[in-house]
Formats: sequence, C-alpha cells, structure tokens
Amino acid sequence: MRSLLLLAAVGLAAAETGIDGWLRYAPVPNANASGLPINIVSLNATANGPVHAAASELQKGLSGIFNHSLNVIYPTSYQLSDTASSIVVGTVAEYANAFGAAPKTPQLENDGYFLNTTGSRVQILGRNERGALYGAFQYLSMLAQGNFSEVAYTSNPDAPIRWVNQWDNLDGSIERGYGGPSIFFSNGTVKINSLDRMTQYARLLASIGVNAIVVNNVNANASILTTQNVEGLGKIADTFRPYGVRVGISLNFASPTANLVYGNLSTFDPLDSEVIDWWQNVTDTLYARIPDMAGYLVKANSEGQPGPLTYNRTLAEGANLFANALEPHGGILVFRAFVYDSQHLNESVWTQDRANAAVEFFTGLDGKFAENALVQIKYGPIDFQVREPASPLFAYLRNTSTAIELEVTQEYLGQQNHLVYLPPLWKTVLDFDLRANHSKSLVRDIISGERFNRPMGGYAAVVNVGTNNTWLGSHLSMSNLYGYGRLAWDPTSDPQAILQDWIRLTFGLDPAVMRAITNMSMASWPAYENYTGNLGIQTLTDILYTHYGPNPQSQDNNPWGQWTRADHDSIGMDRTVANGTGFAGQYPDEVAAVYENISTTPDNLLLWFHHVNYTTRLHSGETVIQHFYNAHYAGAETAQTFPTQWEALQGKVDAQRYNETLFRLTYQAGHSIVWRDAINNFYHNLSGIADAQGRVGNHPHRIEAETMNLTNYERYTVSPFETASNVTAIVTSANATTGTASTRLTVQNGTYNVAVNYYDLYGGKAQYTLTIGGRQVGAWSGNNEDRLGNTPSIYLDGHSATRITFRNVTIRRGDVLEVTGKADGVEPAPLDYISILPLGVVD
Ligand SMILES: *[C@@H]1O[C@H](CO)[C@@H](O)[C@H](O)[C@H]1NC(C)=O
Ligand SMILES: *[C@@H]1O[C@H](CO)[C@@H](O)[C@H](O)[C@H]1NC(C)=O
Ligand SMILES: *[C@@H]1O[C@H](CO)[C@@H](O)[C@H](O)[C@H]1NC(C)=O
Ligand SMILES: *[C@@H]1O[C@H](CO)[C@@H](O)[C@H](O)[C@H]1NC(C)=O
Ligand SMILES: *[C@@H]1O[C@H](CO)[C@@H](O)[C@H](O)[C@H]1NC(C)=O
Ligand SMILES: *[C@@H]1O[C@H](CO)[C@@H](O)[C@H](O)[C@H]1NC(C)=O
Ligand SMILES: *[C@@H]1O[C@H](CO)[C@@H](O)[C@H](O)[C@H]1NC(C)=O
Ligand SMILES: *[C@@H]1O[C@H](CO)[C@@H](O)[C@H](O)[C@H]1NC(C)=O
Ligand SMILES: *[C@@H]1O[C@H](CO)[C@@H](O)[C@H](O)[C@H]1NC(C)=O
Ligand SMILES: *[C@@H]1O[C@H](CO)[C@@H](O)[C@H](O)[C@H]1NC(C)=O
Ligand SMILES: *[C@@H]1O[C@H](CO)[C@@H](O)[C@H](O)[C@H]1NC(C)=O
Ligand SMILES: *[C@@H]1O[C@H](CO)[C@@H](O)[C@H](O)[C@H]1NC(C)=O
Repeated sequence: MRSLLLLAAVGLAAAETGIDGWLRYAPVPNANASGLPINIVSLNATANGPVHAAASELQKGLSGIFNHSLNVIYPTSYQLSDTASSIVVGTVAEYANAFGAAPKTPQLENDGYFLNTTGSRVQILGRNERGALYGAFQYLSMLAQGNFSEVAYTSNPDAPIRWVNQWDNLDGSIERGYGGPSIFFSNGTVKINSLDRMTQYARLLASIGVNAIVVNNVNANASILTTQNVEGLGKIADTFRPYGVRVGISLNFASPTANLVYGNLSTFDPLDSEVIDWWQNVTDTLYARIPDMAGYLVKANSEGQPGPLTYNRTLAEGANLFANALEPHGGILVFRAFVYDSQHLNESVWTQDRANAAVEFFTGLDGKFAENALVQIKYGPIDFQVREPASPLFAYLRNTSTAIELEVTQEYLGQQNHLVYLPPLWKTVLDFDLRANHSKSLVRDIISGERFNRPMGGYAAVVNVGTNNTWLGSHLSMSNLYGYGRLAWDPTSDPQAILQDWIRLTFGLDPAVMRAITNMSMASWPAYENYTGNLGIQTLTDILYTHYGPNPQSQDNNPWGQWTRADHDSIGMDRTVANGTGFAGQYPDEVAAVYENISTTPDNLLLWFHHVNYTTRLHSGETVIQHFYNAHYAGAETAQTFPTQWEALQGKVDAQRYNETLFRLTYQAGHSIVWRDAINNFYHNLSGIADAQGRVGNHPHRIEAETMNLTNYERYTVSPFETASNVTAIVTSANATTGTASTRLTVQNGTYNVAVNYYDLYGGKAQYTLTIGGRQVGAWSGNNEDRLGNTPSIYLDGHSATRITFRNVTIRRGDVLEVTGKADGVEPAPLDYISILPLGVVD
C-alpha cells in the first residue's frame, strides 16, 4: 500500500467546451487515494489494441483525477515483482499467460469485465479485449465520481448488439443532426485528415459499452461503396478499432444500378444471380480492407427508398441477400422494421393506420430471416414520439433476432434546444410486458434474446453527433447518449442513478449541482410531454417541415399517417378491433384486451387507442380538453423553473458551460410558452370549449404588437394561426427598413419582467431595441440560427417564435414602451406581443 498526497487543485476551470463529455477526469476533492497502486500493467503490448488503449486511458484518467502519473509496463518488460502493487489490465487468457494461473472471474462473458480492487493488485480483466477496456472505463468512472470503495464483481452486458447509428450524409450534412456537420464525411468522401474527433467519439462510445457504429445515413447513397470511400471507411475502422468499436455501413438497395466500379447492372432484384454476385464482390472488397466490419444496415421500401418489394420479393429475401454475403465474414445484417407506405394512406378511411404497417409488412416472415440477420424495430409503431406504446412487432417476431431502435438525437423532442432526459421514456418500452403466450415477455428480455431464445439481439440508437464541441449541440443532452449506453448494458438500471453518475462525471460532485440537474432532468420529459402532446396524441410538432415547433394540423389530411383525427367534437385514433383500425389486436391477447377497452387504457395513451369526445372524462376525473389546457400550462410552468434552477449554479459550473446552458434553458422556457399557447389555442378554436380556469385566449398582461402605434411596421397574419398571439404579428413594411412600434403603458408604477415575443427566421439577423420611458431596456439580434442547432424555419411560425425576457424593469404609469426592429435579409424584424409581467407572473 502506498499513500498518495493529493494536491487538491479543485478550482473550477475557467472554460470547458464540452469536448470531453463525461470523460473529463477532473481532480476529485478530498480523494483518499492511499491505496493507489504503483504501476499499470498492460497485459498486451500491441499498440492500437483495446488493452493498450485501456492502459493509456488508465494513465490519463488517474493523472487527471489524482494529479499523479503512473507508468505503464508491458508483458515483455516487467518482472513479476513489479506487479505486486499494480493495476493489471488485459484478457483472462493474457492474465493466465502472464501469471501462470487463470484468475477467478466468475460468470464472465464476452464483452464483460471482472473488476477487483480489493487487493494491492487491482485486476481489470475481460473475457475479450473489449471487456478489459470496459473494465478500465468502469474503474475510472468510479474514481472520477470519488468512489474509492473496494469492489470485486463481474459485469456482463445484457445483449451483444449495442450499436449507434449516425445519419451522416456523404456531403457532410446530417439528417436530424443538431450538433453541426459530420465528423466523418464532407464533400462526398471520408474526412481522413481529421480523425481526431473520430478517436474522441470512439472513446466516448467505448466508455459506455457501445461496440459498433454505422457511420452513414440509412437513407443511403450508393457512392459509399466507391474505391475511395472504401479506403476512407477503412481509416474510420482503424480509428475505432482500438476502442473495440466496429464499423458498419448503411446500404442503398439499388446500388447495383448506380454505375459504381463493380459494374452497372440493370436490376437490383435480390434473387437475380448477377445481383447476388455483385453484392458478394462488394462485401468481399469491404472485408479485404475492414476484416472486422460489423455489417450492414438497410432501410428498404420505406419513405421512397428502393427495396425488394419493387421485384415482388419479400423483405426477408431482401435482407438475406446481404446476410448471405456477410455470413462468410462473420458480419451482421440489420434490417429496419420501419417499413410503411408514406404515399397512399387515406385518412378518410377509418380503418387505415400507419401503426399497423410493421406487423403487416412482416406477416409471414418470422423465421424467414437468416441467422445473422437482425430486425431493428423503433420503440413505438409510429416514429420516436414523446410517448408511444411498445411496438407489437417485438412480440410478433419470435424466430427472428431483433433490436430496439432508440433516438438520442431529439428529432421530435426539442432538437437539443429543449432539455428532455430520455431514459425514463425508453424505460416505459423496455420494461413493458407484452405477455406473449400469456407469460412474462418484457421488451428488454425479447431484444436480449432471452425470451425467445434468440442467439443475438440488442440495441441501436440514432445519435448524430456533429463537429460541435458539445457533440450534440447542447451540454445537457449528452446525458441521453450516456444513458443510452448504460441502459443497453443493463436495462434494469435506474434512469435517475444513471443520470447522477453522468452529473458527477460531467459537472463534478457539488451537491447543489447534483440536485439542480437531477430535478430539471427528471422533470424534463414529463414537462415536454405536457406542453407538446399529451394523452398519447403524439408530439404535435410540424411533421411536414422541421419536426420542431408546434403545428398540430400538420398531422392530419396527408398520407403520412401520423393522424389525430381531431374535429369539432372529438379527437384520437380509434385503433380498436371492434370499431377502429384493429391495431390494438396486433398485441398478444392480454395486452390487446387492455388497449381495446377505454376503461382499461391508461390515460397517457388514451388518444393513441381511442377516438373520444373532448368532454370525455379521464381516469383522473378531468375532461380530455381540460387536461390539455392544464397539462400545457403545467408543463410550461415546469420549464419556467429551469433557468432559475440553473442560475443557482453560477460559480459552481465553469463559465462557458454555465453560459451556454443558461442560454438554452432560457430559450426553452420561452418556447414552452409558444408550445403551450399554440396547442391550447388550436384546440380551443376547434372545440369551442372554454378553459375552466379562464387562461386560454385570455392574456391580461400582453400588449399585442398589432395594437401598438406602428411606423414602418405592418400587420401580418401568421400561419398556422395558433402560433401568434391573437393570430397576428407585425413585420417591417420593406426590406432593410427600421420599424417602430410604440404604446403608452397603463400599469401601476412598479418593477416588472418584460417579455418580448418575436420570430427569429433563418436568413437574416434583425436588430431590435426595447426602450421604456426613454430608457433602453435591452437590445438583441435575431441570431438564433447561430446559437441554436434546430432545423431552422424561414417563416413566422411555431419554430421561429422566440421569447426574450428582461427582468426587474422599473416602469412608471404612462411610460412609453417602444420597440425598434431593423430588418435584415429575409427577416423583417417580426414581433408578436409584449408581456408586462408583475414579478412572479409568467404569461
Ligand atoms: C493483443 O492485442 C492485439 C491487438 O488487439 C490482438 O490482435 C492480439 O490477439 C492480442 N494478444 C493476445 C495474446 O491476446
Ligand atoms: C479479489 O482480489 C483479492 C486480493 O487479490 C482476492 O483475495 C479476492 O479473492 C479477489 N476477489 C474475487 C471475487 O476474486
Ligand atoms: C469536392 O470534391 C470534388 C471532386 O469530387 C472536387 O472537385 C472539389 O474541389 C471538392 N470541393 C471541396 C470544397 O473540397
Ligand atoms: C469486383 O469489384 C472490383 C472492385 O473492387 C472490380 O474491379 C471488379 O470488376 C468486380 N468484379 C465483378 C465480377 O464485378
Ligand atoms: C408484382 O406483382 C404484381 C401483382 O401480382 C404484378 O402486377 C407486377 O407486374 C409484379 N411486378 C414485378 C416486377 O414482377
Ligand atoms: C456549437 O454550436 C453552438 C450553437 O449552435 C455555436 O454557437 C457554436 O459556435 C458551435 N461551436 C462549434 C465549435 O461548432
Ligand atoms: C365507430 O367508427 C365510426 C367510423 O366508422 C365512428 O364515426 C364512430 O364514432 C365510432 N364509434 C365509436 C363508439 O367509437
Ligand atoms: C360525443 O359528442 C357527440 C356530439 O356532441 C354526441 O352526439 C355524442 O353523444 C357524444 N358521445 C359521448 C360518448 O359522449
Ligand atoms: C404534467 O401535467 C399534469 C396534468 O396537469 C400535472 O399533474 C403534472 O404535474 C405535470 N408535470 C410536469 C412535470 O409538468
Ligand atoms: C456569458 O454570457 C454573457 C452574456 O450572455 C457574457 O456577457 C459573458 O461574457 C459570457 N461569459 C463567458 C465566460 O462566456
Ligand atoms: C387582436 O387583433 C385585432 C386586429 O388584428 C385587434 O383589433 C384586437 O384588439 C386584438 N386583440 C387583442 C386582445 O389585443
Ligand atoms: C399612438 O397614436 C395615437 C394617434 O396618433 C396617439 O393618440 C397616441 O398618443 C399614440 N400613442 C403612443 C404611445 O405613441
């Protein structure tokens, strides 16, 4: 034993960019490191191998946490005596070689690790190299959280497939990416001159047990297969390999007809022998460069993508084309279950339902997929909504290996501008009991392979990190990536416990920091559900444009099938067997019976399964419509607390991350009001039913911009109507004009918070100033496009609607309030309204 004097250099770094994610290895205050060993013994000297990476990571981590540098020694260079006080890392086989006897490593499986810190020789052992690396990360995670307890245990992953998917396009853009452009591609090729970010990403992924990455978009471009790109993919694979992360690619089904170097065919029929040879050749070529390639991911016959149905072949025949080509190389074919016809669904037919598509398309195919094929199923039957029931396909496929598809990138869930901690949402599906054959059938036990005795299965998450230093665009959203890896390793983990590990690793051990981020994160998904789409109606975002702000009417009257069927009296999808689309009947009997019946359907999925009157009473006793109003107010009210909770952390979080996070949480608080009012206005207008609490459409503290005295400003009718207070906004009357809107305030003398709701469009940076009584209260720019990562909008709508608030403004009755707005580019300095809020009131 050796005691180690800790230099408590615990001051806050002035600025952290977020690039290290949760692998910061910050000094830990009051660390009692007396037991820290002298050496790190790496049982494998091969550079670029996972054991070597583990030893380097241990060295780096311990140096950061303890400010103390340990030597790494390798098998060829040490005497056994050097290992007496050491951290020994490697595989069980390597350990046996080195020490002449196999260690005791109870129940250790592939990718699992055995960690024993009880002796003077800390043992970090994997059945395979990857496992040793995972053990090293786990040991460092403990220490970095100030946990120096003695442990000896084995940890194995719950499922072998723990992948991430990136939807990166070869031109460098990312579909549904909100953290900047691709770290992998630009201008059609791999970014072989910037592998650093890939290395850092590989570390982050390995540290949470992710073992493969599919690097290109499922809406795939055939040119991923060109000679130059195969070489580039080889470089990516070389970069990820030391971290035990294998690389896979997405394929375009019609690639044989794309005129690549492998010959140009006139067909992509999966049963055509030339096509089969073509794909075998491509596959052999890839494996020649990437011998450990993970496999392929295929999206076919969905949303315009080509696929086997073009040739009247089954989805299984299409999948097996690739599975067979991969089989000699040990690769896996992942086939997405997200197959539906997005062009021909007809809402006027009461029984049509996109939710039915997956089970219908896979009918008769169970057991027809090759053994090295896996069907990847989105958690719910529609598309990553704020709440969905578990996909019934998990119970339908019993002789086919399956994986669940989750989405870390917050496509429908605030695009990283809204804090929404997702593991609690994912748990509703992972823990759901589908009651196949009337026995316990948790989704997590189905995808692990346990329930139906499948040889493989597991997890995939769409992540979409980009070049932004924060990876995902927002510091706080990294908890979702961390949480994904942790749940894929052990889906029985508690989402709050996972979150708190992440908080300690990311922001340190201060209890106030722990409390605030825990409270905000755990409230965030329920709050988001409350202010976007409750009772199972789905996230009421704009499904035709950005998937970001509110636009409830975009759900209906189009063939996309994310319908609400809302009319003047009633709302919801009747998915019963008795009178609806029959979707409820796709579940095993016991679950089908629960959803078939209104009285047993949980309130939070009522409108998913039933079409009911707005006046129908929930189990809670509220009517449907009053629940809408209440939940939207409650959710937005919760979001109002986020910036203030965060502000209590000033000085406890480094300035850069403090600032960047405060900006987003403040934005979210404002945008939650945009959501609240849009959804409430919309259903108030449609149903004609008043809010029993008198809030909806009644905003006594607001001054509508259209009622102010306007110079060089004119009224503008916003569409959709509900995304402007009182339907109307104002815009400057010409390009490059400065407009003025003024009004005389009639409030009592006092101190107020003044909120200005405006629209921040993409394509210009309008300049605004606000004065009251001749004193300047604030000045700002319509520059969200530089500060937020969401898909931008060029319109006045629910995506561009933004609120800025000035606090503690002294106002005298009779003061003139004046806003000037200088148009820029296509942005006509739009203004919606101004709220003069007595302290404590938010509206
Ligand atoms: C050492 O690591 C290299 C690289 O990962 C690997 O190829 C080799 O098999 C390992 N050696 C042993 C004895 O496990
Ligand atoms: C952990 O290591 C200690 C000291 O070497 C040993 O006594 C103990 O048996 C080990 N624990 C397990 C579970 O192998
Ligand atoms: C993009 O690639 C093309 C060749 O495919 C090349 O001509 C062009 O210069 C590249 N552009 C940039 C900005 O690198
Ligand atoms: C196989 O692919 C290589 C490129 O890797 C190409 O040169 C060759 O012509 C292909 N062979 C066939 C039979 O398509
Ligand atoms: C597929 O089947 C349909 C109906 O059986 C037939 O009309 C069509 O011609 C077939 N298409 C092909 C490519 O064989
Ligand atoms: C990261 O994103 C933020 C917000 O979109 C932006 O302000 C910042 O410049 C970006 N940084 C990098 C390095 O891309
Ligand atoms: C049954 O379905 C019809 C449409 O076919 C619908 O108009 C009606 O409201 C439904 N009845 C019930 C009780 O849900
Ligand atoms: C739903 O509302 C319609 C129209 O107001 C009414 O005719 C019908 O009886 C209501 N149904 C229920 C179950 O309340
Ligand atoms: C969500 O809304 C419900 C219903 O109004 C409310 O009881 C609950 O507290 C809200 N939760 C959050 C986090 O806003
Ligand atoms: C934080 O933001 C404020 C304004 O939003 C700015 O004045 C300040 O310089 C920023 N501090 C840092 C460290 O970025
Ligand atoms: C709504 O706008 C109209 C003009 O478009 C205006 O006459 C009316 O006063 C406004 N209502 C409120 C509550 O400001
Ligand atoms: C707005 O214009 C009207 C009519 O010109 C004028 O009476 C009123 O004082 C003006 N109010 C302000 C605040 O400028």
